[in-house]
Amino acid sequence: MATTRSPLLLLLLLFLLSCSLHIPSVSSWKKDEFRNCKQTPFCHRARSRSPRSCSLVAADVAIHDGDLTAKLVSKNGEPFENPLILKLSVYKGGILRVRVDEDPNLGPPKKRFEVPDVVLGEFESSKLWLSRVSDEGVSSVVYLSSDLEAVVRHDPFEVYVRRKGGERVLSMNSNGLFDFEQLRMKKEGEDWSESFRSHTDSRPYGPQSISFDVSFYGADFVYGIPEHATALALSPTRGPGVEFSEPYRLFNLDVFEYLHDSPFGIYGSIPLMLSHGKGSGTNGFFWLNAAEMQIDVLGKGWDAEDGIALPSSQERIDTHWMSEAGIVDAFFFLGPEPKDVVQQYTSVTGRPSMPQHFATAYHQCRWNYRDEEDVGNVDSKFDEFDIPYDVLWLDIEHTNGKRYFTWDSALFPHPEEMQKKLADKGRHMVTIVDPHIKRDDDYYIHKEATNNGYYVKDSSGKDYDGWCWPGSSSYLDVLNPEIRSWWADKFSLQNYAGSTPSLYIWNDMNEPSVFNGPEVTMPRDALHHGGVEHRELHNAYGYYFHMATADGLLKRGNGNDRPFVLSRAFFPGSQRYGAIWTGDNTAEWEHLRVSVPMVLTLGLTGITFAGADVGGFFGNPDTELLVRWYQLGAYYPFFRAHAHHDTKRREPWLFGDRNTELMRDAIRTRYILLPYFYTLFREANTTGVPVMRPLWMEFPADEATFKNDEAFMVGNSILVQGIYTAGAKHASVYLPGGQSWYDMKTGVAYKGGVTHNLGVSDDSIPAFQKAGTIIPRKDRFRRSSTQMVNDPYTLVIALDGSLEAEGELYVDDGKSFEFGQGAYIHRRFSFTKGQLTSTNIAAPGSGKTFSSNCIIDRIILLGLSSGNKSALVEPGNIKLTIEPGPLNLHARSSSKALTIRRPNVRIADDWTIKIL
Ligand code: NOJ
Repeated sequence: MATTRSPLLLLLLLFLLSCSLHIPSVSSWKKDEFRNCKQTPFCHRARSRSPRSCSLVAADVAIHDGDLTAKLVSKNGEPFENPLILKLSVYKGGILRVRVDEDPNLGPPKKRFEVPDVVLGEFESSKLWLSRVSDEGVSSVVYLSSDLEAVVRHDPFEVYVRRKGGERVLSMNSNGLFDFEQLRMKKEGEDWSESFRSHTDSRPYGPQSISFDVSFYGADFVYGIPEHATALALSPTRGPGVEFSEPYRLFNLDVFEYLHDSPFGIYGSIPLMLSHGKGSGTNGFFWLNAAEMQIDVLGKGWDAEDGIALPSSQERIDTHWMSEAGIVDAFFFLGPEPKDVVQQYTSVTGRPSMPQHFATAYHQCRWNYRDEEDVGNVDSKFDEFDIPYDVLWLDIEHTNGKRYFTWDSALFPHPEEMQKKLADKGRHMVTIVDPHIKRDDDYYIHKEATNNGYYVKDSSGKDYDGWCWPGSSSYLDVLNPEIRSWWADKFSLQNYAGSTPSLYIWNDMNEPSVFNGPEVTMPRDALHHGGVEHRELHNAYGYYFHMATADGLLKRGNGNDRPFVLSRAFFPGSQRYGAIWTGDNTAEWEHLRVSVPMVLTLGLTGITFAGADVGGFFGNPDTELLVRWYQLGAYYPFFRAHAHHDTKRREPWLFGDRNTELMRDAIRTRYILLPYFYTLFREANTTGVPVMRPLWMEFPADEATFKNDEAFMVGNSILVQGIYTAGAKHASVYLPGGQSWYDMKTGVAYKGGVTHNLGVSDDSIPAFQKAGTIIPRKDRFRRSSTQMVNDPYTLVIALDGSLEAEGELYVDDGKSFEFGQGAYIHRRFSFTKGQLTSTNIAAPGSGKTFSSNCIIDRIILLGLSSGNKSALVEPGNIKLTIEPGPLNLHARSSSKALTIRRPNVRIADDWTIKIL
């Protein structure tokens, strides 16, 4: 009896234990569950290497298929079994790509993993065919651009980019830390397995890590490599007196209650680092590799740790990159401006997709909205309290036993009707679909996946079985395009019973999270399509799942409906598939604060559609924190409130009239600014430049901005300063640049280039419009963004010292892909010499058009003297008066603005308005 019952009992205990992982408790981050560098053999080995220990030499330099190629051979004949192949390619725009791999002709036991489906075909075909390499004796040089050249030094091997004058910009292996462990077959008696806690990893091809150093010359700071909850400017992790002693880890993990200041790796990974310096401009280094990576930022004097520091003729920041597997496939982005680097990086990995308009508005989520009645109540309370919102989200409890694509029939008996009720008000619904599939023989997804052999295998070749929300689960092998396509079909309206066209999707737990796996994820020796070991692609697993889901929505809408899929895990290229959020944060002021550098870092690395859970996921925010979070979150590109199921309900009307009013105002601020946000999303879609930007991206020469991550820019026109402490009465706000800034609430002008100590009240956080800009708004309040489509616009013109200003407006149908064929309106508004002009800046279309009868019914002028009394609208020869008027419809204080009412010019037309 006891023997038959105990495995079951054990399983139950295990399950309860694993569930307890996800229940908030007083004890926070479970450090012991995760490996540190010392417990990670490849990291420990790489970190123990001394500078200048690489003895590889570049030999047989030649031009081959338009690339510079060389063999990397060991000078002393050890320890390399086979030479490596180095390949340098140059692409349009001066992008340098450096690849190092084992020579396939020398028969490595298998091909190392090269990450597919990230680099755009369009980029690949922009390769410039090298035909000439200059031989300088000790090195070989190729042309990159009129100002830059790439150099391969032969002995010891080093790759760097220099200006024509000789000054270095970016280099690899200058400190001689390069190392490349080659795949091997096990010999008798060898045991390569390694263990962590109760898990053993078999490592069938032996250690296979790669590491090297990268130097950024003239850099004051380095940034990027999400995802970590840390400051925007990355602190050194090695060297004398460092703050963190662990490298920045890139390993997609479901970390319970992550800390707000740690180099520890969380849900997503983008191995792109940017550097910025006053004299040197901005550069970027990207390593396309999906295995676990660890990156040290080396503090000054790091190389003197075990010897004598290298003399350096040029200031630089050294970094050390270590990865468990894969190949070297690295890209050098040479700026020189911050926006150039993001453009260059997204020319390789793709521009952010254009979201549907509704998705840029406010989202209401909670784990869980219990049932249809709860959904109906929440929805009508928003109307009752006059608070706009666009999307209501359903978490895992809406399903039948965590079987995705199903509904709990007792709680959600009429899912289609429920969605229709929301859709009638122009609202949408999102349901969660995770990658773990319940191992239940009666569940159709499991049956098909099992029969088709679509699951990831364990090291013995059986379907991998791990624990997640549904209990025993298996995981789809989304590396395989066939499986992705099968998965995508599950989203069709026929296949997803109870779904309607207004339903969109949330991908969670796709790191993948496995409650009983090593470090809460899948074992590294699990096997994917083509014999790829999980260790080789781990960081890209969530990316392929996100891709398959977004493709599913695309197929569902016959390519006419832009998908909306939120994902927790991410990788380079995720920006093409949807939005990302920063996972399970905590309702604490420090988490509100760190959300800003986290979202800024995502934007710098291509992922502009990002945000943090407003209010904090774990714990109960006090009312002041919640209000401040709404006031800040209204400026996140992705604006969603979310909460853990153990927290108290916190919809905006639950905290008394005054607080409801404050949260309503914050949400309305977002709705007023939707035309501006949407215009910025289009800019991101065409250039990669993020919606939310670090100050230094707009003011690259202003050193006071380089480390500032308490304030940020929304586009080039709005500066926002968060309030991160309770009871704040003052805020110290640095306003960069030579021009002034207008308080968006009062219209009062403040000088730039100065830190102001400003009084703050509970009704808003400081936000300023930069002088010289024009912001389009929609000021009428509606229930949802969809209902604002035909509403008139307001233009807010903030004049600079020369009485000039400029801004843009982009509008399309908010939903389809026709904008790709020219169906959009894109206008430039410029105010100069006392006249506002609207001109068309749309690129010539290719077949489709978009029309709109929307008008501009109000123009607000800041910085114009009140002596100006009237304005003339042309065409039409209409004279209008200029009067003092409020800047903000809700301004409770007097404002310094002047207003032209009802110019009623169409956004689609050319016109001028002259101040008389
Ligand atoms: C973890 C996610 O991060 C969280 O947002 C979600 O509510 C829970 N999983 C339950 O699905």
